[in-house]
Amino acid sequence: MTVRSRIIGCGSYLPSTILTNEELSRRVDTTDEWIVARTGIRQRHIAAEGEMTSDLAYNAAIKAMEHANVTAADVDMIIVATATPDNTFPATATKVQNRLGVVGFAFDIQAVCSGFIYALTTADMYIRNGQAKTVLVIGAETFSRILDWEDRSTCVLFGDGAGAVIVQAHEGVGTINDQGILASRLHSDGSKYELLHVDGGPSSTQTVGHLRMEGREVFRHAVTNLAAVIREVLDDTGITADQIDWLVPHQANQRILDGTARKFGISAERVVMTVDRHANTSAASIPLALSEAVHDGRIKRGDIVILEAMGGGFTWGASLVRW
Ligand code: UT7
Repeated sequence: MTVRSRIIGCGSYLPSTILTNEELSRRVDTTDEWIVARTGIRQRHIAAEGEMTSDLAYNAAIKAMEHANVTAADVDMIIVATATPDNTFPATATKVQNRLGVVGFAFDIQAVCSGFIYALTTADMYIRNGQAKTVLVIGAETFSRILDWEDRSTCVLFGDGAGAVIVQAHEGVGTINDQGILASRLHSDGSKYELLHVDGGPSSTQTVGHLRMEGREVFRHAVTNLAAVIREVLDDTGITADQIDWLVPHQANQRILDGTARKFGISAERVVMTVDRHANTSAASIPLALSEAVHDGRIKRGDIVILEAMGGGFTWGASLVRW
């Protein structure tokens, strides 16, 4: 018997306020044409005043639990992937735990845009070594709070939102025909700090700071690193690119998504794309996209799904899942 981590439900939540490119072009020197041509983004959701990352996370969690048909009593572990926690401490995950009434343990993971892949991989490890049976994994962000709204090169790119999945221990036979997470790979490279970071923090500046990015350089690394890490999870399982049913990428830029899919011969219809409506929601973008494609019936049981992300750190990773 092989223990597999099976994703049994997913849900998402987006704040109700939508900010369009046209509205942004009245705040900074940009245009809808530039943003659409360079990124594919048309709009993003922005959290209301007083609406916190934990609120977004909680709402997505409730939907995922309903979809998975589990209650708070079934969940024994919560991980929230976020770079925009409500407070420096305690973990946003413990706030969600309290609201849900979950007994067990909860903690945050901070790997910026790769946070969901890191959190899912961590959940998989806890499940496979028997420490947890049913895990709530959430990606939730309020990047609108750490943007420099006068910097047109970054403020047009990001949005707020949350997505969640329920991962549960399941008995498999140890082959790639099992449902669940079949392979995951994580990487980080701290030498690329300057290319994508927040220019503050409690122990360096006593302020939370703003996001800074050398977009062109990040783009270059993203295309290379994402292709390499997808290749790794394919090689780990012996699954070939033509067997991939769905690519669910981190939604940073449509050109990166298209480029990655092209490298593996994956047609555009097989790539789940939400960047046009959500923009880059960092750790929330993969579970938001996954939830959309599962609920509208595109992703079906038995499908081979690749999740991949790259972000600040740098961090990057991929998971190969049989749905
Ligand atoms: O999620 C974490 C990972 N993040 C990413 O993967 C993001 C990766 N990077 C990107 O998506 C792209 O590099 C950007 C969308 C950030 C930028 O696109 P680009 O094609 O690399 O543009 P660029 O940075 O080379 O800038 C081109 C021009 C510049 O003007 P000059 O120097 O050519 O005169 C910028 O000043 O576009 C200008 N520009 C803008 N113009 C209008 C930069 N931002 C804007 C803007 N509106 N919002």
